[in-house]
Amino acid sequence: MNAIEVHGLHKSFKDLHVLHGVDLSVAAGSIYALLGSNGAGKTTLVQILSTLLRADAGQVLVNGSNPATHPQQVRESLTLTGQFATIDGMLTGRENLLLIARLRRASEPEHVAEELLKRFDLTEAASRRASTYSGGMLRRLDLAMGLVGKTPIVILDEPTTGLDPQSRILTWNIIRDLAAAGTTVMLTTQYLDEAEQLADRIAILHEGRIIQEGTLAELRKLLPPAKIEHILKEPTLEDIFLSLVGSPSITEEASS
Ligand SMILES: Nc1ncnc2c1ncn2[C@@H]1O[C@H](COP(=O)(O)OP(=O)(O)OP(=O)(O)O)[C@@H](O)[C@H]1O
Ligand SMILES: [Mg+2]
Repeated sequence: MNAIEVHGLHKSFKDLHVLHGVDLSVAAGSIYALLGSNGAGKTTLVQILSTLLRADAGQVLVNGSNPATHPQQVRESLTLTGQFATIDGMLTGRENLLLIARLRRASEPEHVAEELLKRFDLTEAASRRASTYSGGMLRRLDLAMGLVGKTPIVILDEPTTGLDPQSRILTWNIIRDLAAAGTTVMLTTQYLDEAEQLADRIAILHEGRIIQEGTLAELRKLLPPAKIEHILKEPTLEDIFLSLVGSPSITEEASS
């Protein structure tokens, strides 16, 4: 079964026609990356999937339910992160997580909160108000809050924008763990390497439509291979940065 099905989706904001007939399917348990430039309509699309916006036309099924007619079923089956909407700046990171864990009726909210703090490298900052967090820490807290309660589908709107390379790798590992545990992950990104690293399938949203879709291998076939001009591979700046500051080390326990 497909976790997400979209056919002929249209959405305009007044006379701005953002989505012009989007078609896509996301297989349950897979990682699906939606690539697109600024303003392509990625956030609009994921907001329609998550019941935050209504489509003008087209069919949408999320975990078998239509977000327009069965919003409650859809909300129970998915988590959307990237909004920061749920973070309360007056509460500490730990209190934010505890609040969500209690709202979602986790059986051991304290345990859930501590595990997520650890997994997202936020234990040291856990007792500080979220309003004092850096942008990257807020992003990690937002992601952590999205994972409380374990919905079958997780939608990540630009999960790593603004993260340093270590937090980025940490986030990638968490996304891989989610998929390995059977969660369907749909993510939007502007980073081509992120899609390459993570996604089972990649869709390119351009001018309101999906203009290409497939596995990385399928997309690679669209272009002839480039000639290799250098034998030595220079380290990337990311390689150098990570060798100096160290790679993230806390990912091993992430699957617990
Ligand atoms: N509520 C709204 N009212 C009017 N226009 C909107 C609204 N939301 C989005 N838009 C417009 O729709 C277009 C698509 O926006 P959207 O946020 O979906 O793009 P995006 O692909 O997520 O871009 P980014 O990479 O910058 O996040 C943009 O031109 C944006 O200005
Ligand atoms: Mg966006």
